Amino acid sequence: MQNKYQSVRPIFDPIRPHVFIETYGCQMNVSDSEVVLSILQDAGYSLCDNIDEASLVLINTCAVRDNAEQRILGRLDVFRLAKKKNHALKVGVLGCMAERLKEELLSHPVVDLVVGPDAYRDLPKLLAAISADGKQINTILSHEETYADISPVRMDKYSVSAYISIMRGCNNICSYCVVPYTRGAERSRDPQTILREAKDLFENGYKEITLLGQNVDSYFWKNSDSAKDINFAQLIEQVALIDPSIRVRFSTSHPKDISDELLHTIAAHDNICKHIHLPVQSGSNAMLEKMNRKHTREWYLSRIKTIRRIIPGCAITTDVIVGFCSESEQDHQDTLSLFREVGFDSAFMFQYSERPGTKAAKHFPDDVPPEVKTARLNEIIALQNTLSLESNRRDVGKCFEVLIEGPSKRSDKDMVGRTSQNKTCVFKDNGFKVGEYVKVRVVDCSSATLLCEVI
Ligand code: SAH
Ligand code: SF4
Ligand code: F3S
Repeated sequence: MQNKYQSVRPIFDPIRPHVFIETYGCQMNVSDSEVVLSILQDAGYSLCDNIDEASLVLINTCAVRDNAEQRILGRLDVFRLAKKKNHALKVGVLGCMAERLKEELLSHPVVDLVVGPDAYRDLPKLLAAISADGKQINTILSHEETYADISPVRMDKYSVSAYISIMRGCNNICSYCVVPYTRGAERSRDPQTILREAKDLFENGYKEITLLGQNVDSYFWKNSDSAKDINFAQLIEQVALIDPSIRVRFSTSHPKDISDELLHTIAAHDNICKHIHLPVQSGSNAMLEKMNRKHTREWYLSRIKTIRRIIPGCAITTDVIVGFCSESEQDHQDTLSLFREVGFDSAFMFQYSERPGTKAAKHFPDDVPPEVKTARLNEIIALQNTLSLESNRRDVGKCFEVLIEGPSKRSDKDMVGRTSQNKTCVFKDNGFKVGEYVKVRVVDCSSATLLCEVI
């Protein structure tokens, strides 16, 4: 692709010290790594994509499940080998696992630096101090930090879509979840800085913006003039109004907070994507109560009904946890039946993983045997595959506008793109360009993809 993304591309300069950044976890972490790169570029670093060229390796980590952390510990072993080749190489651990483990991670033989999600502005100072005084750590959480004034440097050079963090932290304290402890209290970012960032992305050729937060529905910016207070529905509308050709997505919504006002705003704007990710976590009221989700099965189902009434054709996806503390076979059946009742378009499905320090870890035994968790996970995955296929079959014969993302991995004669509903479409490459919109008709499907003809 041409140089239309130039102004937001990382600067590569052979003279500067090189940093290699690896990112794990959710979209918030991807967005944070872009903030980190911006801070480091200002401090004289240049991004490289080969660890052998780096003088600094940063790994932005996730702590949400034990297997996420195990994977990162495995990567630290790989960095140990890189350090053997290059004795000057420094290794820093960022993100949620850094925040959770603090000094424990700093004592790891490979690690020189531990920095939590709210302390990235301190990186240049900490890096300078490593050379003088050895290992450095800052895991102080903040009530104000939103990195509002920092222009993130996008790492995926050829993407047409970009994330904008609109808030940080979480106040919900779901009993299984480590995020409120690793990312601190919820705070919203100044809407003017969000709009400026969105306009800048649009001017640089981006076609899709995803507004990010752990609970976007509780976004709220208080102004000195209360008439100018702004909630999430108003914010997303302002982003959508930047230009009708830019698509706007958002993640994640919470069933207890998603408002009718937001649903009407989504319905009113063609360029706000017709897809809501609404994590349910369980279909059993007993589990939801124990999870401290503050919504019931009935409430969730009533929100789904309202979404379908206000936004016909809206895709609905979810997250679910199987095998939470003392989950019975009946609780599990309730989750399966909720899945059938809603007919999710897709879902992220997880086995419960106990996280130290959470309410659940303190109060409820993790007593569902691993083999039962696995069996339940397999069962829900099998069900969701059927539901995804049914959802895709309902689209066969229908027409959609697709935003082209790039060549298909399977065949260079095909291109892929996504519908407003976030479904992946494959279609013949008639000389299209990435970032263009094309009208397609669905002719066939699998559970993961819509096969389309261009119209
Ligand atoms: N803020 C978002 C997402 C948080 S983490 C939300 O509330 O929806 C993403 C998903 O990881 C959660 O939705 C949940 O399904 C899953 N998750 C969180 N903690 C978990 C744990 N201890 N074990 C297994 N899955 C977990
Ligand atoms: Fe975790 Fe719940 Fe907050 Fe989501 S809403 S980040 S699951 S505490
Ligand atoms: Fe995201 Fe993982 Fe942290 S899901 S918020 S990176 S614990």
